Amino acid sequence: MTASSYQHLLADMTLQEKISQLVQLAGPFFKGSTETGHITGPMAEMPITENHIINAGSVLGVSGAAEVRSIQKKHLEQNRLGIPLLFMADIIHGYKTIFPVPLAIGCSWDLKLAKRSAEIAARESSVSGVHVTFAPMVDLVRDPRWGRVMESTGEDSYLNSAFGRAFVEGFQGNDLTNNLESVAACVKHFAAYGAAEGGRDYNTVDMSERELRESYLPAYKAALDAGCEMVMTAFNTVDGIPATGNKELMRDLLREEWGFDGVLISDWGAVKELIPHGVAENEKEAALKALTAGVDIEMMTECYVQHLESLVAEGLLKIELIDEAVLRILALKEKLGLFENPFRGADIELEKEIVGHADHRQAAKELAAKSTVLLKNNKQTLPLDKQAKVALIGPFAESNDLLGPWSALGAREEAVTLRQAFEQIRPVNTFTVAEGSSIDQVSKEQIAQALAAAADADVVVMALGESSNMSGEACSRTNIQLPAPQIELLQAVAALKKPVVTILFNGRPLDITNVVSHSDAVLEAWFPGSEGGNALVDLLFGEINPSGKLSMSFPSNVGQVPVYYNHFNTGRPKGAPDAQVHYVSQYLDAPNKPLFPFGFGLSYTHFNYEELKLSSVELSPGSSIQATITVTNSGDVSGEEIVQLYIRDIAGEIVRPMKELKDFARLALAPGESKEISFSITEEQLRYHHKDLSFKSDPGAFELFIGSSSEHTFSQSFILLKEGGQSK
Ligand code: GLC
Repeated sequence: MTASSYQHLLADMTLQEKISQLVQLAGPFFKGSTETGHITGPMAEMPITENHIINAGSVLGVSGAAEVRSIQKKHLEQNRLGIPLLFMADIIHGYKTIFPVPLAIGCSWDLKLAKRSAEIAARESSVSGVHVTFAPMVDLVRDPRWGRVMESTGEDSYLNSAFGRAFVEGFQGNDLTNNLESVAACVKHFAAYGAAEGGRDYNTVDMSERELRESYLPAYKAALDAGCEMVMTAFNTVDGIPATGNKELMRDLLREEWGFDGVLISDWGAVKELIPHGVAENEKEAALKALTAGVDIEMMTECYVQHLESLVAEGLLKIELIDEAVLRILALKEKLGLFENPFRGADIELEKEIVGHADHRQAAKELAAKSTVLLKNNKQTLPLDKQAKVALIGPFAESNDLLGPWSALGAREEAVTLRQAFEQIRPVNTFTVAEGSSIDQVSKEQIAQALAAAADADVVVMALGESSNMSGEACSRTNIQLPAPQIELLQAVAALKKPVVTILFNGRPLDITNVVSHSDAVLEAWFPGSEGGNALVDLLFGEINPSGKLSMSFPSNVGQVPVYYNHFNTGRPKGAPDAQVHYVSQYLDAPNKPLFPFGFGLSYTHFNYEELKLSSVELSPGSSIQATITVTNSGDVSGEEIVQLYIRDIAGEIVRPMKELKDFARLALAPGESKEISFSITEEQLRYHHKDLSFKSDPGAFELFIGSSSEHTFSQSFILLKEGGQSK
C-alpha cells in the first residue's frame, strides 16, 4: 500500500474507526474479545466495547508467532477496512536470550556489542510476531534510589546518546519494510523520567529548560537522529506539566523543533493520570490535553475512545488532530509492510530455530563478561588459580535470578547459574557451595554451614546482591546497602582471613562500602543475563580479563546522592589551592567523592599512560587539534583498556562541569605492548546551551583530560580562539 492509498483509507474510515486506531490494549482483550473473563485488574473495569476491539490499532505485550498470527487473522476477519494490528512489547535487553541489564551494558562501553544485542533481540522478537519494541530507554540517571536506573546506560548524556544510537540501529536495521528480522524502536521516556525527586518513581521532575536541553534531552535526540520510529511519553511532570499533556515538550519541541513526525505513545495509563496529576478534572479533559499535546496512542486507558467523539462533536477538538494521529499510525504500519503482509516476520517454524539460538547465547555471554566491572583486586586475588579449592557462598551462589527486570520471555530456569558454570569447568570435588543466607534473612545454621565450607577452601567466592524485584519499575529504595543479613554473612566469612572475592548481582549502584572493606576483590556483575554464570567463571579464572568501566557512580553512602562526575565546582570547592578548611562545600560525615567514580574499572593487567601531547594549544573554530597519548600494557596478561577523553570549559557564560566525556576508545594490548591513541578536538565539541538557549561555544581557556576513569587522568590546557583567530 502506498502513502496515498492509506491516506485514501483515512477518507473511508468512520470517526469511531479512526479513534479506535489510537487505542492500545493488552492481549486478553483480543484473545477472548469481549469475554472479559480473561481480563483482570484495572483493565477489567475499562468500558471497552467489542467495536473498539475490532477497530483497535495495536496490542500490548503479546508475542509468539502462533498467538500473534491467530489474533491478527481474527482481527482482519472482523475489521471492516482490513487495517492490521501493530504488536508492541517490552524487549529491553533481549527477548528469550537475555543480555545484561542496560546499566550493565553501559559499563561495557562496547557499542558494537550493544548494537549486536539489539539485533539479536529484534531477530528473536520479530520471528515471534513483535513489530515494535519499547526500547531503548535513554533516561539520564544520577540517583540510585530510583529502581529504573538498571534500564538506562547511565549518568552521562554523551555515552547514553552513543548507546541510544547503537540500540536503535540494532533494533531497526536499515530497512524496516523488507528486513523481517528487524523491529521498530520506541525511545523512552520522554522526557527526563530519571530525574524524579528523591529517586522516588513517578515523582516530580523540575529543572530549568536549559538543564533539560543540556543534560537530559540529547540522548532522546540521538535516538531520533538514528531513525527511531516511536517515542513514549514519561509519567512525570516537566516544569509543572505532566509530559503526557505537555504541548510545549511534545508538539512544540519534539514535533516542531526536532521535526519528529513518527508515532508518540503514552506510557501505561499516563493519559488518564493527568487527572491525579491535577491538570485534568476528568477523562474528557485528559483526552483533550493529551491529543492536543500530540500523543497519538493512548496505552491501556480509555479516555480517547470514550471522549474524543464528543469533543469533536462539541467543537472542542479539531478532527484534523485525530486524522494526523491516525495517519502517523497507518504510516508506521505501512513502513513495517503490514498492509502487504500483516503477519510480517511471525513464523511458527522459524521461531523454533531462531529463538534462544546458541549463537545468541554466545553473544550474551561475551557482553556479560564485558559489562562486568572489576572494582577491587588487592594482592592480585583474581584471577583464581585453576587448581584452587573454592567455596562458593551466598544467595547468588546457585540462584537463577540473573535476568533482572524487564526480561521479556527470558526464562530464569534457562539462565546459567554460577554453580552450574563451576560444574561445567571443574571437578565437583574442587569446590563447595553454601547459600549462607537468603537475600534478606540469615540463620546461625546457615552461617555455620558457610563457615565450614570456607574453612576447607583456599579461596572464598561470595555471591551477594539484590533480588531482581528490588530494582526496576516502582522499586525505589531509600537504603541502598546490601540487606544486613548478607553483610553479616560476609563479615563472618571474612573473619576466617581467607582470600575473599565478592561478586555483586544488582540493578543499581549500591552503597558497598561494607562489602569492599571485607573483600580482597570485588566484581560488579549487575544482572548479567542468560549466560551470567559462564561469563563470570571465565572472568574468575582469567579466561577473560575484565574491561568494564562504571557508567554510573557508586556513592559511598546514600546521603551523597545525587553524586555524579560531571558536577559543577561551586564557589567553595573543597581542597582547592586557596580553599578554607571549614567553610567549603563538604559533608561533615562523608567524603564529597563517590566510592567509585564514573569511568572506573580495573583490569588483571596494568595500563601506563604517558606523554599526553596536543598538536597545538590553540584551537580555531572550523579546525581541530589532536590530543595524543601512549598507553602501555605493563602487566603480564593481555587486556582491553577504555581510554576516556574529557574536557573542561574553565569559564563560560554558564558554570561548566568539572569534566565532560567527549570521546572514548577501546585499546586491546598484549603484555608489554604500547599503542598511541589520538583524539580529534573541535570547536563543535565545546558547545553548550547558553542562558538564551543558544547552543554555542565560548572562546577562552579549556582543559583536556585523558585517562582510565573520570578521576584518573592526565591533562593539558588549550585555548579556543574567537572567529578570526583572536584569543578571548
Ligand atoms: C510501563 C513502563 C514502560 C513500559 C510500559 C509498557 O509502565 O513505564 O517503560 O514500556 O509500561 O509495558
